Amino acid sequence: MVATKTKPKSLEELGISSTILRKLYEAGITTVEALAAANAHELSQTLAIPLPTIQRLILQARNALGLGFKTALELKKERMNLPKITTGSKNLDSLLGGGIEVKTITEFFGEYGTGKTQICHQLAVNVQLPPERGGLGKKAVYIDTEGTFRWERIEAMARALGLDPDKVMENIYYVRAVNSDHQMAVVEELRDLIPKENIGLVIVDSIMGHFRAEYPGRENLAVRQQKLNRHLHQLMSLAELYNVAVVITNQVMARPDVFYGDPTIPVGGHVLYHAPGVRIQLKKSRGNRRIARVVDAPHLPESETVFVITDAGIRDPD
Ligand SMILES: Nc1ncnc2c1ncn2[C@@H]1O[C@H](COP(=O)(O)OP(=O)(O)O)[C@@H](O)[C@H]1O
Ligand SMILES: [Mg+2]
Repeated sequence: MVATKTKPKSLEELGISSTILRKLYEAGITTVEALAAANAHELSQTLAIPLPTIQRLILQARNALGLGFKTALELKKERMNLPKITTGSKNLDSLLGGGIEVKTITEFFGEYGTGKTQICHQLAVNVQLPPERGGLGKKAVYIDTEGTFRWERIEAMARALGLDPDKVMENIYYVRAVNSDHQMAVVEELRDLIPKENIGLVIVDSIMGHFRAEYPGRENLAVRQQKLNRHLHQLMSLAELYNVAVVITNQVMARPDVFYGDPTIPVGGHVLYHAPGVRIQLKKSRGNRRIARVVDAPHLPESETVFVITDAGIRDPD
């Protein structure tokens, strides 16, 4: 039960017959990752390949990616060695157990102006740092649903780290998602882009904006949740199969009618609670200070810390 150490680069290396290989390519399944994520029943029908054959191939692809059975000890070693991306703040990094983790969805939620977008910008820069400086030495994808991305901020943050701003900007693949369908289609496209362009981080800022606008009110809630769940599932499978960190933001609004407990609720209702990952709540404090708090992470203690937003980016308070 040892996970394969050297991952096969192509379907050819899995030893699939050329006839089936051709059919897979025709169906747009061109990578081991895509095959591992495929639906056996669908594929069997559309390609007219017997179900057991397809099931065996999918299993083979999953095993090749280390997604088969492993022991808890193997799992521990794997999770403890997951690379992390620094946020620029040591406080925030240690709150996160070392930084933003690959193979994980990390959600930042909070009210307007709490620093969600600034953190996203900072991570798009920091992922490019070499591992010894807290990065992955990889590129970033920035899916902007609200039009709040500013290259000027990237430039300033890159410069503050002594990096060539143009090079850093060249390594951020930016897309302005115009609606929720577009947002989801873009994520599908990433299955090709991630391996091709050495992407280490996928950002969706914000996850809920379009869904909220397109499915307003209680009567649309069920449909919205369904679609949103599909989107989250897409992102989870990206994170797990392609070894990338996924960072999403979620705008919450103050609820003046709530007197007990937390007067802010995530706009997505509680749908995101069901997705595994790390949730960080952000709150404003004095001046440029912000409070970050871990909320129901499966492996992190509930605690909070303070960071600041400066012209140079996300930092620790003096
Ligand atoms: N160049 C900058 N220098 C210092 N602070 C900045 C700069 N740009 C933005 N900020 C701060 O970032 C905050 C906005 O954070 P943002 O990430 O856009 O919030 P959110 O996405 O949570 O709505 C503002 O309070 C602003 O003061
Ligand atoms: Mg924002």
